[in-house]
Amino acid sequence: MAEKMWAGRFSKEVDDRVNDFNSSISFDARMYKHDIMGSVAHATMLGECGIIELSESERIIEGLKGILADIENGELMFDPTAEDVHMFIEAELTKRIGDAGKRLHTARSRNDQVALDIRMYLRDEIDNIVKLCESLIETIVKLAKDNMTTIMPGYTHLQRAQPITFAHHVMAYAQMLLRDRERLLDTKKRMNVLPLGSGALASTTYPINRQRVCDLLGFDEISQNSLDGVSDRDFCIELANAISILMMHLSRFSEEIVMWCSWEFKFIELDDAFATGSSIMPQKKNPDITELIRGKTGRVYGDLNTLLTMMKGTPLAYNKDMQEDKPAIFDAVDTVKLCLKTFIPMLDTMKVIPENMRNAAARGFINATDCADYLVKKGLPFRDAYKITGTLVAKCIEKNLTLETLPLSEYKAMCETFEEDVFEAISLETCVMQRKAAGGPAPECVKAQIEYVENKLSK
Ligand code: ARG
Repeated sequence: MAEKMWAGRFSKEVDDRVNDFNSSISFDARMYKHDIMGSVAHATMLGECGIIELSESERIIEGLKGILADIENGELMFDPTAEDVHMFIEAELTKRIGDAGKRLHTARSRNDQVALDIRMYLRDEIDNIVKLCESLIETIVKLAKDNMTTIMPGYTHLQRAQPITFAHHVMAYAQMLLRDRERLLDTKKRMNVLPLGSGALASTTYPINRQRVCDLLGFDEISQNSLDGVSDRDFCIELANAISILMMHLSRFSEEIVMWCSWEFKFIELDDAFATGSSIMPQKKNPDITELIRGKTGRVYGDLNTLLTMMKGTPLAYNKDMQEDKPAIFDAVDTVKLCLKTFIPMLDTMKVIPENMRNAAARGFINATDCADYLVKKGLPFRDAYKITGTLVAKCIEKNLTLETLPLSEYKAMCETFEEDVFEAISLETCVMQRKAAGGPAPECVKAQIEYVENKLSK
């Protein structure tokens, strides 16, 4: 077992069970690079401020860089018995450079060190997730551009409601993802605050220069209260929240794809490389990816809940409870990245079947509103027009016809105002083209939506 740095205070070695229980290296080792970057900045500042010798600071930095290189080229393995990544790296440094290594932790505590590391690690991950969001938005835009006139039924209550285009439908998700991207970037603003210098809880008596470390590490500002600096995990909760909402969007999209590729809909077909078969039913082609995304969304909500609950009863400042932040937030980050990385190519390779969308749009009387509007445009009050159309729909159902195939004589029998041009007015193409209020499904409006999204992405 790695020797404890705090061994001096104790007369016994820590019990193996306690050591395993206490150790976080199995999940915090992934922060090694950020831990080293933070230590390099800290050592630089300590040297510059004369808190340690400049020559020691230089040896520390060189030693740390060597450790980083050796971890990356596989020469240095993490010791699973170490307490955490911070202790492991510091011990390794001292092993390599001797006494100078023991000076690195001057004016610092693991409490402000870990608070720094998670912030640095997560701000990089935010950039990765934002890039994936952007790539998904671009894939959606491409899909929309290819389907500007692909008519499909729009739904409410999962009942066919009014005609829209597939482009319009998928662009709704582009809007959601734009908001996700903004939420992530906004979270980063509050995350990008330097906690180092907060010490264990009450800062330090050494003449440190926090602003220097802040500048070296690219933070926007330094934290203003040392107790808050070490014990704030709002940024983890905010990120888990932003990721949860993003997962919820992916899950809704996934649910639609599950339905669309069923034989009941057959609006799309997944590429063979992005679907799975059954072990017993030879005919099956299953949308496992989308179902997994739906399932994993629940897991990410669990991570958010873990963080909220973990924090709600902890007195100021640091408590070991807070070590549990990492498995939760890392799981949320890993999961959303994995989902996006799989969802994007799945969507990109999915085949759209416009005929089936058109056929579904042709049934279900989704042009009934337009039929009523036709009468309104000819002077009838909407409520009367609504009632007349309702009766016509009932007649169609009785005769197994659609509004398009019902003879004009039947229309006229209900209301003299109907003329031959009603058929033009209720054609699905007209119905979509005429829905050109801003934000509507008419191709010109969807084009404007796409421009809006592309413009936001370019900023
Ligand atoms: N592994 C710990 C964590 O993740 C580091 C901070 C430990 N601080 C302490 N006072 N025990 O939270």
